[in-house]
Amino acid sequence: MKRLVAASSLAVALAACSSSKTDAPPAPPDPLALVTPIDESPDPNVLQIKLEAKESTKTFGSSPPTAVWSFGGTIPGPLLDAKVGDRVVVDFQNSLPEPTTVHWHGIRLPAAMDGTLAMQQPIPPGGRFHYEFTLKDAGLFWYHPHMRSDIQVQKGLYGAIRVRGPNEPTSDDERVLVLDDVRLKDDGSLAEYLDDTAQMMGREGNTLLVNGITNATIPVRAGAATRFRLVNTANGRFFNLRLPGHLWRVIGTDGGLLPKPYDAEHLLIAPGERYDVMLIPNGAPGSSIDLMDDPYERGHESGKRAPNVVAHVKIADDAPLAGRVLPTSFPAIDPLPPAQKTIPLTLDEASKGDGFVFTINGATFPDVPMIDVERNGLRTLEVKNASDMDHPFHLHGFFFQPIEKNGAPLPLESTGKKDTIIVPGKTTLKLLTRFDEPGMWMYHCHILEHAEGGMMGEIHVME
Ligand code: C2O
Ligand code: CU
Ligand code: CU
Repeated sequence: MKRLVAASSLAVALAACSSSKTDAPPAPPDPLALVTPIDESPDPNVLQIKLEAKESTKTFGSSPPTAVWSFGGTIPGPLLDAKVGDRVVVDFQNSLPEPTTVHWHGIRLPAAMDGTLAMQQPIPPGGRFHYEFTLKDAGLFWYHPHMRSDIQVQKGLYGAIRVRGPNEPTSDDERVLVLDDVRLKDDGSLAEYLDDTAQMMGREGNTLLVNGITNATIPVRAGAATRFRLVNTANGRFFNLRLPGHLWRVIGTDGGLLPKPYDAEHLLIAPGERYDVMLIPNGAPGSSIDLMDDPYERGHESGKRAPNVVAHVKIADDAPLAGRVLPTSFPAIDPLPPAQKTIPLTLDEASKGDGFVFTINGATFPDVPMIDVERNGLRTLEVKNASDMDHPFHLHGFFFQPIEKNGAPLPLESTGKKDTIIVPGKTTLKLLTRFDEPGMWMYHCHILEHAEGGMMGEIHVME
């Protein structure tokens, strides 16, 4: 997959192609474009890259440059763009002043490549690690460290992975949107903080980022079938997205396309989750619509939140495209047979000293008892959230199919394959999984302060 560093997005490429004038000025550089890495392999089915985690500086909006950590110098790190069946080969170099690992969130791979301390040694400062795996599933995934993840991800270590499959819908424009927030101090520097609120709710910033940009403008074309692929990489913030005058056609989530897409006014995305959505922008050429993050009560808050503007969706000056329709169905997902055995997991919180701990079955990691499953074992994860606040539950290495909420079957639209799911306060979800890959696998809350605060455990899939 030989390719140079490409800065242009599909949207810009298409916009340029659709221009009828050959002497049109070149399209302006796309500020939301994600850097793609140099592919060192001539084989079209291999993506071979170098990836370096390092100390960097970044300018957020009009603030002065501040010290951050990044993959390769940009936040987000490079977009890995590939297709199902491709081999990904990563020569990783740790140039940070502390140990790290790289975890490939949502990708089904051999456990030794999963980047957790259950399966590999910390990569010391100056050290390297060779990651290599084959992409089995289409979807949007992401990568981030799995050591002191609350700090390392917050400092800027994250990037997206887009894997195309055989059933991609047709669209005119497509864009990957990586959502995050950072807390900047008055002088524009990145705050290193962990106060009690941050520990309880997860760290939330005062500055929202789309592809690393504050106050971003997302260019769209009226009438175009437009696809957005979103990932929330924030430590603790839930994004509750609404685009006034539009509905989101939700076509996929963590584990790929949904058999039955559905429309929603709000798209609620917890840390770690991904959504694949389409819409047909309507609005006057040249006008702009604010993309809103509406208040969502996730426990312990009592209506303190205000709406935020995430970005401005700017409609191009071109005449609207006509006749576009959005997809209404995709191939069915094979249902797993019912599991004979259940793994009960109770999520809770408790105060300890001046702070809090976050528990699974009454214990904090690493004291949460390990769960053994035979290879290919089918299990129902019965995740009971006994606390008052939502916890986004994440399982490494496998997708699960959500089947029940508080004893009632879930509607078809909620049963797509997931690896991260919001378990609302005082709610029990049943998630069905087949553990078909041996090794040690982590599961945890994806509010990273909660994971580091104890809400994490290990599943051992026996050989
Ligand atoms: Cu994205 Cu263990 O997590
Ligand atoms: Cu993960
Ligand atoms: Cu949590």
